[in-house]
Amino acid sequence: MIHDVLKQLEPLDQLPQWEQFKQAVLAAKIDCKQTVILEAAGLKVDLSAQRRSDALSQAVSDLLEVRQLDKLRQALFDGEHLNSTEDRAAWHTMLRQPQPLIEVQSERLRVLEFVRRVDNDRRWRNIVHIGIGGSDWGVRLATQAFGYAGSWRQIRFVSNIDGHAIEGGLAGLDPHDTLVVVATKSFRTAETMANAARACEWFEAAGVNAGNNTIAVTANPEAAAAWGIPRHNIYRFWDWVGGRFSLWSAVGVAAGLTVGSGVLAGLQSGAHAMDRHFLNAPIEENAPIQLALAELANRSVLGYGSRNLAVYDSRLSYLIPYLQQLEMESLGKSVDHQGRDIKVATGPVVWGMPGTDAQHTFFQWLHQSSEGAPVDFIVCQKADHQWQQHHKQLLAHCLAQRQALLHGKSTAQAETENRHKGMDSAQAQWLAHHRKQPGGRASNLIVLPQLTPFSLGALLAMYEHKVFVEALVWGLNPFDQWGVELGKVLADDIFAILNGSAAGDAKHTELDCSTQYWINQFKA
Ligand code: F6P
Repeated sequence: MIHDVLKQLEPLDQLPQWEQFKQAVLAAKIDCKQTVILEAAGLKVDLSAQRRSDALSQAVSDLLEVRQLDKLRQALFDGEHLNSTEDRAAWHTMLRQPQPLIEVQSERLRVLEFVRRVDNDRRWRNIVHIGIGGSDWGVRLATQAFGYAGSWRQIRFVSNIDGHAIEGGLAGLDPHDTLVVVATKSFRTAETMANAARACEWFEAAGVNAGNNTIAVTANPEAAAAWGIPRHNIYRFWDWVGGRFSLWSAVGVAAGLTVGSGVLAGLQSGAHAMDRHFLNAPIEENAPIQLALAELANRSVLGYGSRNLAVYDSRLSYLIPYLQQLEMESLGKSVDHQGRDIKVATGPVVWGMPGTDAQHTFFQWLHQSSEGAPVDFIVCQKADHQWQQHHKQLLAHCLAQRQALLHGKSTAQAETENRHKGMDSAQAQWLAHHRKQPGGRASNLIVLPQLTPFSLGALLAMYEHKVFVEALVWGLNPFDQWGVELGKVLADDIFAILNGSAAGDAKHTELDCSTQYWINQFKA
């Protein structure tokens, strides 16, 4: 049983291999004299600005061996129940197999056939995609990445429970020419159900049969049918697909309708190519593994609390929340498979903004603050627009920021420059202290040849597998999210109190006095 293997993993801080890894990280240097560029499914991953040494390479392979990388990675691809707390598989790799399970293939074909049919009929000029978290970010990302030049259908996204979201999402649309896609794995999420109900009312108020203009994508088709979605309008996926891994399933249908079903196929094949790389490439050449180890060094040994995402492509701004969910919902844990506290720092905060806007927002902090953060620079070698000078400038900014973080500027260098500008000695010395930059700040440079569905699919899968390897070393379950669940339960309780229900009132006294105070204020 794979659960037994997981439960037998020793606490990380007690492993001699972890101690060996720690010591090797501390002794290693960022050696900019030699490039380290890995090739993975068409992506280039430059790790030259991370610490390395022969001792570190040896420590890494010992650490991964004791953490049973080979066995657990194979278990992931075999659909074994690695999600121990929910006793299910995390089998997203199956969704992008060229020859998947029959049920996966048949649902894939149903989606493609649906898109083909409604495209042929030029049906629905507007799509309103209702979903949240993993049922939202990936679809937004794909439509933004490949719909930047426009599409004959417009798409709007409604995720938040804030009534302004659904109001804005429906405003000005013709209900006769609008398809609502309700994407929710559980078919229970409060935000999605409330927004879907509003959309239904909107259809009915216009005399449109909501059932004809609504499709559901869910792992709970019974609930969708009970809710009123006609069975032929329900597309399904399975409980072995985690919410944040569901872009590869029918959840992507709205992207297919907006930017073409070729995008869905391209994403899947890029992700599959990365799956093959992750499975087969040796440790030293394996991009997800090396990215994971760089983060383990930066987070758990060197103590960096966050990693910045500097995405030098404005079409990829949704990559940031997509990866925030993938990484922080997966790695924001601090107990191991046995339930013991993990005594090293685990998943970092992931944050960012597209470059070059980021440079004018928070890059100062990356350059000169006392802490800083490792950065993932992500850029496309080739642009899809005609303004080559813009693209060269973009590339120049990306490389320049990385260079500045890596090399910094010494006080002596700054002082010499100041003197050359004609400053007197006291002024030159004083200003040099403000201009010095420590340098030696770690980063990864990830280069996509061009933004295609294939390259984006490969990029997303690379991060998924990076997360998997980190979880394996920390010994935590990256596939559950119990913390989020508690918030959902409490929100239900407080909602009931605000509505004055008897069940809600019974819960009132269990809340802290400040929450009680504000509930009373809001009720009044
Ligand atoms: O944010 C918590 C979460 O459970 C995510 O894991 C999931 O992607 C999201 O809620 C939406 O859930 P569902 O697809 O079931 O509506």
